[in-house]
Amino acid sequence: MLALITGASSGLGVEFARLLAINGYDLIISARRKDRLESLKKILEKKYKINVEVFPADLSDVNDVLRLAANCFTKNINILINNAGFGILRSFNNIAGKENINLINTNITALTLLSQEFIKTQKRGYILNVASAAAFLPGPLLSTYYASKSYVLSLSTAVNEELKRSGKPISVTTLCPGPMKTEFFTIAGASKEWATATPRTCAKRALRAMFKRKPLVFSDNLIAISAFGTKFLPLNLLTKLSYKIQRSKFM
Ligand SMILES: NC(=O)c1ccc[n+]([C@@H]2O[C@H](COP(=O)([O-])OP(=O)(O)OC[C@H]3O[C@@H](n4cnc5c(N)ncnc54)[C@H](OP(=O)(O)O)[C@@H]3O)[C@@H](O)[C@H]2O)c1
Repeated sequence: MLALITGASSGLGVEFARLLAINGYDLIISARRKDRLESLKKILEKKYKINVEVFPADLSDVNDVLRLAANCFTKNINILINNAGFGILRSFNNIAGKENINLINTNITALTLLSQEFIKTQKRGYILNVASAAAFLPGPLLSTYYASKSYVLSLSTAVNEELKRSGKPISVTTLCPGPMKTEFFTIAGASKEWATATPRTCAKRALRAMFKRKPLVFSDNLIAISAFGTKFLPLNLLTKLSYKIQRSKFM
């Protein structure tokens, strides 16, 4: 049994790696920070007697994404977890073009290419795509991040339905976490962080849903209810509320 996890150098990705290792999965772990991946490999191989392959890659570079796919999908992989992602907390006109391209490539392009290659090359298995509660509303001051996560939710849900109808035993589960204390907020540029779930409980819940081939899972019940609630608010009001929430992260 083999799983490929992107963004496995910190936060949620480390928890996915740990939980799958406990369950006897060999792993391919990827991210840019090779030292982090190497130390995780050492810990997991020693503790759980599994094999871990480290594959450093910058997923904002499409060539690296293709290199990762070429290395992995000739193997028999049971699980793909598209977890790598980041946000930029800043007004849209203050984000450099290259920063936005890097975000779109990491959060959208890499996830799309890896999902597609998995489906094309593997006979069966599970894909877990990490979106966010941000997928359910616009996010002024984190606009490209929110938009990228809406894409992840929409694409993953659509492809899951296609696969179900085709009878191919591959499912795509979309995970929508609420705020968690990882490196995410610091990297995004927020000075305040809050959480509705820990990365560990979120990863557990997500894997349980993935193995049941559920299309959608949330980090916790509060986020599930909030996402449902967005359906009943006018877009205009939702966007104003969202602005206030993002604004508070600067203070
Ligand atoms: N924390 C939250 O509040 C929250 C809420 C909703 C959704 N999420 C989503 O959850 C996922 C995991 O985030 P996290 O909370 O665990 O944050 P994190 O601790 O910052 O982890 C992000 C991971 O993505 C990797 N990554 C970022 N840019 C990359 C790139 N260009 N190429 C390759 N890997 C890259 C990072 O590795 P390197 O830096 O080593 O490359 C790291 O392993 C993300 O998709 C995020 O959007 C997080």
